Amino acid sequence: MKNAKLLTLCLALAATATWAGPPVAGGDPLKLKGNAKQGEEVYEVCSACHLASGIGRPDGTLPVIAGQHTNVLVKQMVDIRSGHRDNPTMFPFAQSMSPQEMADSAAYMHTLKLSAKNGKGSGKNMKRGKELYEKDCKTCHGGNGEGDEAKLIPMLTGQHFKYMQRQLDEMRAGKRKNADKDMLKVIKAYSDADIEAVSDFMARLPVAAPKKK
Ligand code: HEC
Ligand code: HEC
Repeated sequence: MKNAKLLTLCLALAATATWAGPPVAGGDPLKLKGNAKQGEEVYEVCSACHLASGIGRPDGTLPVIAGQHTNVLVKQMVDIRSGHRDNPTMFPFAQSMSPQEMADSAAYMHTLKLSAKNGKGSGKNMKRGKELYEKDCKTCHGGNGEGDEAKLIPMLTGQHFKYMQRQLDEMRAGKRKNADKDMLKVIKAYSDADIEAVSDFMARLPVAAPKKK
């Protein structure tokens, strides 16, 4: 009886929980002020995969992290560290970072310049991509894919086509556990062709890094 009650309570908590960040020893990195100069040193080990430019790879294995909102970068690192976002290759690196190092490296990555040479798709389904984006994505990700720092919504401008296509595919399949619940509702109904079209449209949005608040 006692156990059943406890289980119900746990289930209720899990259902109502909003993202507040899994516990990280040493404090919540989202509340710390990042120092980009210190972050440059932290980033050295990261550049082995993410490249010194932070531009990643057009083949979609590594995202563009250059210019991304600092809060978004921190949240993703916290999620990767806790296993809430599955990333076995980066997991040990995320685990070895202190909260201050997360805040610092995010501040540094934000200062890196976006490039308009990001990977693109075929360019054949722009009309469909634009329709879908404006109907389903714009309210959260913004008219130019600029995202929203305060709401932890990623900037998508300048991101690689193949990376976005893969993320959407993984979210739809329920494989990216930290995905936004309301975004999932939209993505669930998407066909492969829809994902392809909207990813290509986003990859071609004009490149401009979001301004720091
Ligand atoms: C061994 C390679 C590797 C190393 C080293 C590495 N990462 Fe990553 N990182 C990845 C991969 C792969 C992804 C994308 C995972 C996916 O596709 O879901 C990623 C994703 C990220 C993301 C999420 C980006 C987004 O747009 O959602 C952030 C932030 C990040 N890494 C920061 C760092 C930092 C900071 C370091 C250094 C402390 C680091 N990474 C070291 C491989 C690496
Ligand atoms: C209700 C708000 C909302 C809507 C609507 C929405 N998104 Fe998102 N999206 C988010 C949030 C929040 C995240 C970050 C989730 C996380 O922390 O992992 C995200 C993440 C993403 C990512 C991964 C970015 C990265 O760097 O890994 C892509 C790609 C994306 N969204 C595309 C889309 C597309 C395409 C649509 C429309 C079909 C859409 N989103 C609709 C809120 C939304």
